[in-house]
Amino acid sequence: SNDDDDYGAKSKKPGHPSSSSRTYKNYQVLRIRPQRDEDVQELTTLEDEQGLEFWSPPMKNSSSDLLVPPDVAEYLREYLQDRDIEFTVLTNNLEVEIKKQNPKPKSKYSEKLLKSDKGHPLTWSRFHRYKDIQEYLDYLGSSMPDLVKIITIGKSSENRPLKVAHISSGKKKDPPAIWIDGGVHGREWIAPSTALFILKQLTENYNTNKGVVDGIDWYIMPVANPDGYEYSHSTDRLWRKSRSKNPSKRYDDYRSDDYNYYDEGRQARFFWGDDPENCQGVDLNRNWDFHWKEVGASNNPCKPTFAGDRPFSEPETRAMSDFIMDHSEQMKAYLTLHSYSQMLLLPWGYTKQNPKDYDDLMYLGRKAIESLTRMYGTPYKIGTSPSLLYPTSGSSDDWAKGRAGIKYSYTLELRDKGTFGFLLPATQIVPTGRETFAAVKTIAKHVMNSD
Ligand code: ARG
Ligand code: ZN
Repeated sequence: SNDDDDYGAKSKKPGHPSSSSRTYKNYQVLRIRPQRDEDVQELTTLEDEQGLEFWSPPMKNSSSDLLVPPDVAEYLREYLQDRDIEFTVLTNNLEVEIKKQNPKPKSKYSEKLLKSDKGHPLTWSRFHRYKDIQEYLDYLGSSMPDLVKIITIGKSSENRPLKVAHISSGKKKDPPAIWIDGGVHGREWIAPSTALFILKQLTENYNTNKGVVDGIDWYIMPVANPDGYEYSHSTDRLWRKSRSKNPSKRYDDYRSDDYNYYDEGRQARFFWGDDPENCQGVDLNRNWDFHWKEVGASNNPCKPTFAGDRPFSEPETRAMSDFIMDHSEQMKAYLTLHSYSQMLLLPWGYTKQNPKDYDDLMYLGRKAIESLTRMYGTPYKIGTSPSLLYPTSGSSDDWAKGRAGIKYSYTLELRDKGTFGFLLPATQIVPTGRETFAAVKTIAKHVMNSD
């Protein structure tokens, strides 16, 4: 039939395990705008019961995007109409959009030629696999050994190396440092590509950017969650979490009626509706050891915002935090790239209270966004996560400020505002890279001058 759920696990072809993937055929994306508190509450319950996925949680008088499986689409639309909840349909068939986003290279042969010419496989015109990204890092390290060192800070759950590019020209003694990571969430492909573009500007275009390269030590980790990134390429385009195996025992425990087994008093919620395919991995932006799991994080391993069993349960967050802590004296800014919504978020994420130096962070944030917008007119909002989006805890930006003591800690939610969402076309890699680099340079100059 046309509308059956064709999950990868069921359609695995023998001999082609890696080509099987989850289809989003006839999945819809709705943008809803609830106007009453009851609506928000009911929608939250519906999420658990019906296998819906909010890409941002429903809030009163603000819009959020919602992924709707085909079998509940009709029910949900009627439900929204009955209750007069405003909504628009962003897409009727997500699978079609997924296929369009990252077209295969026209000819493998011409990419090979290009690669032998440049010494690395990155094209900046499509989203590359982790293998290509590593080749680019290694290329930079070996072609500019005095400027770039590639450091392996640990291994992912699936044993992929976690790599950081350290850019240091040695021109300045004890320079301040800036950390940039991307790809904490697998499906947010524009984040790694933007981190890589920034890396390219600082190295291959050293001459044009001398000032900020010589004045700063840069630490850039383009893919913080390589397992999730690869899984979003190979199997499930919308995968967000890491890929660690949550103990299988746990799944059975949740399946029993003993909902509180794991959480000693806190309600661990599990519903029969959870697709077992979703029960691996941890949300790496809920796993940091700072107000862990207080708000905006899930107890349920099958949910996209699962916080993990304990803070820093994941090798990825452990490796990153250990490394950052080791260099925390030097680090003056922490930037983490996500998508989408075009926002610059500043701490705190876990509370509505503002940090003491909120005005400083606002001031520099505004300047950075002015530079960004000047380039192509892309509008950005600035504020804290609870004021603009939703509160979350155990996130890396809060940890960087609250625990590592890094003053300027920002999350950048890159392009776009939902037209393509996670499926931003590859033609936007370069413009997104350029405008984001403009913002990053503004932050860098400020940090250099206030040092
Ligand atoms: N989209 C990000 C997430 O959900 C936003 C995080 C912003 N930071 C925060 N501390 N709330 O993970
Ligand atoms: Zn994200």
